[in-house]
Amino acid sequence: MRDAALLPLPGNELPHLWQKPAYGVLLTCLQKLRVEPRVWSLDVSCTDILREQDATAHDRRETVSFLSAIIKSTLAWLDSDDEREVIWEEASKCLAERCGRTAMGEMTRRWPFENDGYGAFSLAIREPPLTGDSLGLKTWGSSYALAQLLNEFASGPLAHLFSPGAMSTPDEVLELGSGTGLLGLAAACIWRTSVVLTDLPIIIPNLAHNASINREVVEAHGGRVEVAPLTWGGAEEGMYPMFREPNRYQLIIVADPLYDDDHPMLLTSAIDEQLGLNAEARVLIMVPQRDKTTKDLLGLLRKELSRGPNPLLCLEEDVVDGQDDWGEDNDDETRQVGFWWAVFGRAESARR
Ligand SMILES: C[S@@+](CC[C@H](N)C(=O)[O-])C[C@H]1O[C@@H](n2cnc3c(N)ncnc32)[C@H](O)[C@@H]1O
Repeated sequence: MRDAALLPLPGNELPHLWQKPAYGVLLTCLQKLRVEPRVWSLDVSCTDILREQDATAHDRRETVSFLSAIIKSTLAWLDSDDEREVIWEEASKCLAERCGRTAMGEMTRRWPFENDGYGAFSLAIREPPLTGDSLGLKTWGSSYALAQLLNEFASGPLAHLFSPGAMSTPDEVLELGSGTGLLGLAAACIWRTSVVLTDLPIIIPNLAHNASINREVVEAHGGRVEVAPLTWGGAEEGMYPMFREPNRYQLIIVADPLYDDDHPMLLTSAIDEQLGLNAEARVLIMVPQRDKTTKDLLGLLRKELSRGPNPLLCLEEDVVDGQDDWGEDNDDETRQVGFWWAVFGRAESARR
């Protein structure tokens, strides 16, 4: 049972600011209003959690007006500017936690995996507060949908890379646009292999954090992960040393990479640079069919991959149903979409 001192306050127990509550009283009260638990389970949507948070705060309106009053107040009766800063900051965090995912602070979610082939494990994935258009700070539905298919792929379209004694077992798998790292970390566990997780430099600190908090689970499953910046279409001079050797990877994986007009071309250039030129090399890619824009971008990607000096052919493809998101932006419904996946390999002409 939780310590009674830590239980959230009912709305009618909030102190009144006109009574000039002491620093300690305000701080304790704000700490009690912080939302818990900080680690979420996959089965519960953000929306449900936000509702639960509102319920445990007993009287959302009272709480929000108390927090707003603190933020607006000069807190002139407190002893120092430092004390005032602490109180304003705590109140702002509490308020943000009650304003939906985009305004929320950091959260860590647990993602369960279970299968007769690889057993059971779960990955903890941190998502920092969402800022600007840093889409890689959020975990997208296709990374989980694709991760759950990895075991099947290892005995299906990618079996030639994974079966015992395979000619070109992927010593290292490369993931492009890893975001928070869910897919790459799961691949390391499920395939018992080494995976290099990559993304734009700005995404790397959080990705490295997620790699580090899951290292034990990954290693217990016989995998290994490394994190490095890799910008699609980036100049060679600025490239991380391990990516300067061209066409090194036997297997590239990527989930939900298309949201700008130049992404099909940029992603193709990264694949061209990094994927082996041999007949066994493969790209496994998943794109959610959210709307006309994503469908058009996917059409462009197919075209880009099929032309150029080292064309790639679609060897197998399908669409699976999945959940695009786990509730965001005050949207009550989680969105069901078709996730297109495909395995690409080098066309004969590319290998000559
Ligand atoms: C929609 S998110 C998907 C993230 C992750 N794969 C997932 O499914 O949760 C797209 C990812 O592509 C990355 N990205 C976009 N443009 C990129 C570029 N030019 N080079 C490298 N990564 C890029 C973003 O930073 C982001 O992490």
